[in-house]
Amino acid sequence: MKQQTLNGSTDRRIDALLALLADNAMIVISGSKIAREIGVSRSTVWRWIEKLRSLGLRVKGHPRSGYQIEKVPDILAPKLLRRRLPPGPFGKRIHHFFKIDSTNSVAMLLGEQGEPNGTVVIAEEQTAGRGRAGHTWYSEKTNGIYMTVLLRPPIAPQQAPLITLVAGLAVREAIVEQTGMVPDLRWPNDLLFGRKKFCGILTEMNAEQDQIHYVAVGIGINVNHERVPDELSEIATSLRIETHRAHSRVELVARLLRHMDSYYNRFLVEGPEAIVARFSEVSSYARGKRVRITTVTDTYVGTTEGLEPGGLLRVKHDDGRILPVIAGTLTEAD
Ligand code: BTN
Repeated sequence: MKQQTLNGSTDRRIDALLALLADNAMIVISGSKIAREIGVSRSTVWRWIEKLRSLGLRVKGHPRSGYQIEKVPDILAPKLLRRRLPPGPFGKRIHHFFKIDSTNSVAMLLGEQGEPNGTVVIAEEQTAGRGRAGHTWYSEKTNGIYMTVLLRPPIAPQQAPLITLVAGLAVREAIVEQTGMVPDLRWPNDLLFGRKKFCGILTEMNAEQDQIHYVAVGIGINVNHERVPDELSEIATSLRIETHRAHSRVELVARLLRHMDSYYNRFLVEGPEAIVARFSEVSSYARGKRVRITTVTDTYVGTTEGLEPGGLLRVKHDDGRILPVIAGTLTEAD
C-alpha cells in the first residue's frame, strides 16, 4: 500500500534540482554540474527542466549552454519550504506531489502507516480535491495551496471540532501577515473576504470512542487564481483577485505552518477556552449574525449565540430555542 500511495510523490532529486536552481538564481550552471550534484544523467536534467517549465518555472538555456533561472520558483518543493520553517514537528516531514487525487486521502493513509504528528502532504494540483458535505474542491494547477497536515492530538474525539478552528485561526494569521488584509472566519471552516470564500478546511479523523488515532487537516487556499470558474464567481474569490497582485505560495505555506504550530500548542497548553475565545474575538459569525443553516434534510434560519466549550456554534432559532449546530453549511441570511 505504501509503495502505491507514495508512487506519485516528487522524486527527492527534483526537489534537489529546484533548490540548486533557486540557490544559484541568475547564474548559469552547466547541465553536467547539475547532473553531478543531484546524481542523474544530463538528459534526465533536461527532461525535468522541461517538466518544471510546463509548471511555470522560468529557466533559460539548454544542456549545452547550461541553465539559468530567471526567477526563484514558487513551487512548493520540500527543500525550499523547510528552510523557511523553524525546527519542530510541523513540516519536518513533507510529502510533495505534482499531481494527486487528494492530499487528505494521502494523509489518511500516511496516518495509518504511522507517520508522525506534523507531517505535511502538499500538491501542486489535485484531481479529486474534496470539500465538506461531498463537495469537490476546485484545485487549479500551481495557483492554489492544497495541503494536509497530519496531527496526533492527545484529546478526546469530542474535542476534534476545535482542531478545525485552530487551523482556521492559523490561516487567518498567515493571511494578515501576507496581505495586510483581515479576512473573516465563517464557522467552522471558511475564510472569507466580504461574502466570498477563498479558503476551506476539511478535517477528517480516525478515532475510537475515547481516543483519536490521527487527524488529517486539509486546507485549500485560492491564491493566484486570476479568476474563479463562472459557477463559483458569486461565492468564491482568491488572494490575487482581492489584493490585485500575485503571492508567493512558498512564503504563505511557511507562514501558515508556523502559525499552525503556535495555535496547536496554545490549544494543548492553554486548552479549548483559549481557542474558543480567540475564534469568538475574530469571527463576525460567532455571535449576533443572522445565518441560514442547510443540512441534508432541512434549511433553517437563526441568530448565532456564541460557541460552546467544545467549539460547536450555538444558534437561536426563531422559536426561541438555542441549539448547537451539529451538521450543516452556514451562510449569512439576507
Ligand atoms: C470545504 O470548504 O469544503 C473544505 C475544502 C478543503 C479543501 C482541501 S484542499 C487540500 C485538502 N485535500 C482535499 O481533498 N481537501 C482539502
